Amino acid sequence: MTAKIIDGKTYAEGLRTRIAGHVERLKREHGVTPGLAVVIVGHDPGSEIYVSQKARQTVEVGMHSEKYELPEDASEAEVLALVQNLNADPAIHGILVQLPLPRQIDPNKVIATISPDKDVDCFTPASVGKLQIGLPGPVSCTPLGCLMLLRDTLGSLEGLNAVIVGRSNLVGKPMAQLLLRDNCTVTVAHSRTKNLADVVRQADIVVAAVGRPQMIKGDWIKPGATVIDVGINRIPAPERGEGRTRLLGDVDYPAAAEVAGAITPVPGGVGPMTIVCLLANTVTTASLING
Ligand code: GUN
Repeated sequence: MTAKIIDGKTYAEGLRTRIAGHVERLKREHGVTPGLAVVIVGHDPGSEIYVSQKARQTVEVGMHSEKYELPEDASEAEVLALVQNLNADPAIHGILVQLPLPRQIDPNKVIATISPDKDVDCFTPASVGKLQIGLPGPVSCTPLGCLMLLRDTLGSLEGLNAVIVGRSNLVGKPMAQLLLRDNCTVTVAHSRTKNLADVVRQADIVVAAVGRPQMIKGDWIKPGATVIDVGINRIPAPERGEGRTRLLGDVDYPAAAEVAGAITPVPGGVGPMTIVCLLANTVTTASLING
């Protein structure tokens, strides 16, 4: 079998066009321009690329964008003060502090300082709690993007066996909540799971979010399963020239694509969905704050 390729890039483009329409309507009918502030501390090359893409796409859909670049040695107090200013700024409806943060800054303190009304990442304890008990609120961007691709590929997810590999607060845990809401039977596997290959072999849906290049092998995949690869691992690629890199997912794509029913590529699968879901969450918070 050769898997259907799940084209996240094209899906995200369609969604971006719809978001631009919502932004236009908010401006025209309510005089509100949704505003997103992104904060980056230090110079992690991967984070710099993401943050630039987020800021660029914010402008492309007609929203207001502010980007704050703090030095690697910025103090925790500086970051907290910036977040507090953004909480109080009426032009800003969404605040994203790019993770990871340098060691001297406690990410939990920073996240807890973000106003839940502007928490477009769904990272604050209040937002995470709402997601857990099914109250309306923001939904974590990467898991939401994965869910949209799964629904688009499979229709109803009811009764399917979903195995998530990875238990991070960013992806694994919120993904489990969303798949439970869609009536999947959910297993969250991780680095200490016994017989991981056998656990993954039971899955109708595999969500790989471990951050280890090509860890999920082709012969772990049940024939016909749907595979969502969240991994974005930057690997040195000297064959492309000195200092060049390429991206690899958490799944051994060529081998898995022989067995799976459908699979996301890396790049061009989940990555573009994360940013577009961030834009969607910002439109939602702008509507609610001004509602
Ligand atoms: N670092 C990697 N992914 C994300 C994300 O979705 N949000 C934030 N704030 N930081 C990240």
